[in-house]
Amino acid sequence: MKVTILTIFILSSIFITPVFAGAGHTGNQFSDRKKSRITRWYNKSMVMKGAKIYEQNCSSCHMKNARGVSNWRKTDETGNYPAPPLNGTAHAWHHDHNSLRNIVREGGQAMGGTMPGFKDKLSDKEIDSVLAWIQSYWSDKIYGEWLRRS
Ligand code: HEC
Repeated sequence: MKVTILTIFILSSIFITPVFAGAGHTGNQFSDRKKSRITRWYNKSMVMKGAKIYEQNCSSCHMKNARGVSNWRKTDETGNYPAPPLNGTAHAWHHDHNSLRNIVREGGQAMGGTMPGFKDKLSDKEIDSVLAWIQSYWSDKIYGEWLRRS
């Protein structure tokens, strides 16, 4: 068989794309093959609602899959900190549930940060859904630590 660029392209889109598509979602508790062993405060339907809310309100800064800006520990050229990851790799899990709700409601501007507050835009239920979506990216270990601190 003569292997043309086109056949390589077609084959790679059949065999490689699903792998990449899957990889993009690893870390989400509901897409992992391994089931979570800890009972969480939210359910799958909240997480699915939260995904949409996140996409519309948060992903422009906190990026896809809540992975944040890679150099989030360093201030940018305006002297502000960029949006950190929320996926359990930074320190969002150091805040208990009420503090997380407050950060989303009030934003970070009162504390010298740049995140806008969402209390006029999102209901308490919507804020909880988006937190559920974020936490679905936390490993059992991180979630367990968060529970211990909350
Ligand atoms: C305009 C950019 C921007 C948007 C939009 C935004 N954030 Fe943020 N967020 C930030 C920045 C920057 C910080 C760091 C604190 C600060 O500067 O206010 C932050 C901090 C946080 C924190 C605290 C993280 C930690 O490690 O302490 C949480 C939780 C959070 N954001 C959730 C959200 C959620 C949920 C949404 C959507 C409803 C959202 N953010 C929308 C920029 C943004």
